[in-house]
Amino acid sequence: MSIFAGMKIIENCPLYSRNTFGMDVKADCLAEWSSPDELRTLLGTVERPYLLVGGGSNLLFTADFKGTILHSTIDSIDIVRETQDSVLVRVGAGVVWDDFVAYSVLNGWWGVENLSAIPGEVGASAVQNIGAYGVEAKDVIETVQTICLDNGKSRDFSNAECRYAYRQSIFKNELKGQYAVTYVQFRLSRVAQPRLGYGALEAQVNKLGGPTLANIRQAVIEIREGKLPDPKVLGNAGSFFMNPVIPAAQFDELKSRYPDIPSYPAQDGMIKVPAGWLIEQAGWKGRSLGPAAVYDKQALVLLNKGGATGADVIRLADTIIADVRQKFGIILSTEVNYI
Ligand code: EPU
Repeated sequence: MSIFAGMKIIENCPLYSRNTFGMDVKADCLAEWSSPDELRTLLGTVERPYLLVGGGSNLLFTADFKGTILHSTIDSIDIVRETQDSVLVRVGAGVVWDDFVAYSVLNGWWGVENLSAIPGEVGASAVQNIGAYGVEAKDVIETVQTICLDNGKSRDFSNAECRYAYRQSIFKNELKGQYAVTYVQFRLSRVAQPRLGYGALEAQVNKLGGPTLANIRQAVIEIREGKLPDPKVLGNAGSFFMNPVIPAAQFDELKSRYPDIPSYPAQDGMIKVPAGWLIEQAGWKGRSLGPAAVYDKQALVLLNKGGATGADVIRLADTIIADVRQKFGIILSTEVNYI
């Protein structure tokens, strides 16, 4: 291992503790950088291919990685500008997402409290457009600051340029793997803006005494703890699949066969159907295939029960995809990225 300034380069690096699925794999090299200039220096030094990684909470490693994993440790949180009503805050890509949420709640800044307790880091939140309980990262992102991995130049993306959609951004599609996020600028509100539209959230908040920032954060944490497994105890990457978005005509046909099917309106008159419901109806909730399993409290989450390989998890995922397709005619897409 070599360390100079905030840079760290580890050859033949074990990744076990750097992916929440707990896959026991290695990378040829892992390089960490704590400033844009350090990243530029690294780009001239370490071997391609590169893989940009944050907290490793949305990845499934299927083999050792033959290349360099790039991880930002930029951990600053600075106020760029503030008014009586709002604050523009610049957050380093390596800040743990939930630390940023906790900090915002403490400071009385509204906007990210519904996104409490999501695993991962701030850089990845802007790539993945993380979302929960009626809020997505795109609702509060103003600018994503990046470095181009080909030429080391800085480039700032406005919210519109990021082409955000449900769990999608330009960084997962057209520009995949080409830009490393250095900082994300978030526009948060100093004026109370509780968003309690999601199912059980309002009831839980009221039980805690009403819609303060701290109560909303606490309610979200409690709801999540009831449904989602702690990756430190059971390897997992949160939702394994995305909720499929289907045409209204296809939904109407399904609804006539399954009157209880839950749904939410999506863009352009399309309908979003919870993948967890489809997987449960297909009989997979709580079931195992070898060392991989479907979580018994939320069928959208796949688990490593211990010692599973990426291939074990993919075998389970592919079997579920085939069964859901046969029963409902819907092809599930993974939210987790296979490496
Ligand atoms: N459902 C079932 N069985 C299940 C799971 C869900 O029938 O095993 C049905 C229920 O009817 C429930 C509905 O699905 O009312 C929705 O379930 P839930 O509220 O748990 O949300 P989700 O759609 O399954 C999404 C996100 C989660 C996020 C929650 C809350 C995706 C892929 N997942 O899950 O995000 O926390 O909404 O907003 O959109 C993640 O991305 O890792 C993640 C956990």
